[in-house]
Amino acid sequence: MMQFVIPDYLRYTPYPSQATLLTWLEDSNSLTRYILQNLQAGQESVPQQEILNPPHWEFGHISWFHEFWVHRSGLEANQSWLSNADGLFNSSLVSHATRWELQIPDLDKLFAYNQATFERTADLLGRPLRNEQLYFITLSIFHQDMHNEAFAYMWQTLGYPQPFMPNHQSTNLQIPIRDLAFSGQTRQFGSQLDEGFIFDNEKWVHPIQLEPFSIASHPVTNGEYLEFLQSQANQLEAWTPFYWKQDGRQWYERHFDQWQILQENNPVRHIRHDQAQRYCEWRRRRLPTEHELTTLYSSEANTYQSTGLWEWSSSTFQPFPGFTEDPYRDYSRPWFDGRHQVLKGWSAYTPERLRRTAFRNFYEIQRADIFCGFRTCSIE
Ligand SMILES: [Fe+2]
Repeated sequence: MMQFVIPDYLRYTPYPSQATLLTWLEDSNSLTRYILQNLQAGQESVPQQEILNPPHWEFGHISWFHEFWVHRSGLEANQSWLSNADGLFNSSLVSHATRWELQIPDLDKLFAYNQATFERTADLLGRPLRNEQLYFITLSIFHQDMHNEAFAYMWQTLGYPQPFMPNHQSTNLQIPIRDLAFSGQTRQFGSQLDEGFIFDNEKWVHPIQLEPFSIASHPVTNGEYLEFLQSQANQLEAWTPFYWKQDGRQWYERHFDQWQILQENNPVRHIRHDQAQRYCEWRRRRLPTEHELTTLYSSEANTYQSTGLWEWSSSTFQPFPGFTEDPYRDYSRPWFDGRHQVLKGWSAYTPERLRRTAFRNFYEIQRADIFCGFRTCSIE
């Protein structure tokens, strides 16, 4: 007998109301437009670097992604509003270096493409929709949210002014540090079908036997990192955070276009994975695994200090048991290459709707441009 298998992504439920999705879309899209509108003449041309994208290309790509999945069923055969949209903005086909060489349409055209796409979706959201449509609309909103955050870390790299107000102010960590002890236990990690929209790398929920562990109640601060740095006199350069500089005895940190006096009680940010690891070795501690961080974030939120920073884990980004790709195939699978580490949590530039303890972020270990910090575990 033929069995008809329903793909996973059609079975994710529940979704928020369509009115909520429209609010999210308006919120995310107006933020993108605001960022692009505030770009000063000349700032759209950026150096060709692995950690950057030409901002106009990225804007076109955001609209393209949304149109491709929501209005073209993920098929190039279905016509785009914009001519040659796939050749310009399909990130799976347009190699990174090529993005600097393309004839990108002018900004007016890109705004019109964005507006046309947005209006079609706003119209859809006023009618009854199938799960498939809800899935792709949600995916496109979250994709746009992630690109909005990417604008923030690109602006940090470029030394441009902060592109938008963060959702979380940098925390001054006044509470005394302590270790929070978790007993050994079998816990479920990953996501299941009834948890609403999920990303493919969260599939599926599975038990893990955790050993007892003790994890710091707060992330490593600038002051704590500075102590480590001052002990590394002959390797100062390798371990100095990328946006720090010293003038006399005073340390400064560049935040977007501002040099600020380093605040000792603030969580240290823009740290590479190897810097975090080296710090841990020096303290005779270790980085938490992604499961330990998930366990911490699932506990009473008042007992630990949220950082407003993604937190590095010691876990290499790997599929969970039962992983299969969802339609946007490049979201996870290409990055199970052993070169990406899992980060948990969220940053100040991540909207509330993306802040889930099951969410798994991942970056290559040399990245320090993203808004990332870390906390440590004791070694028993
Ligand atoms: Fe993208």
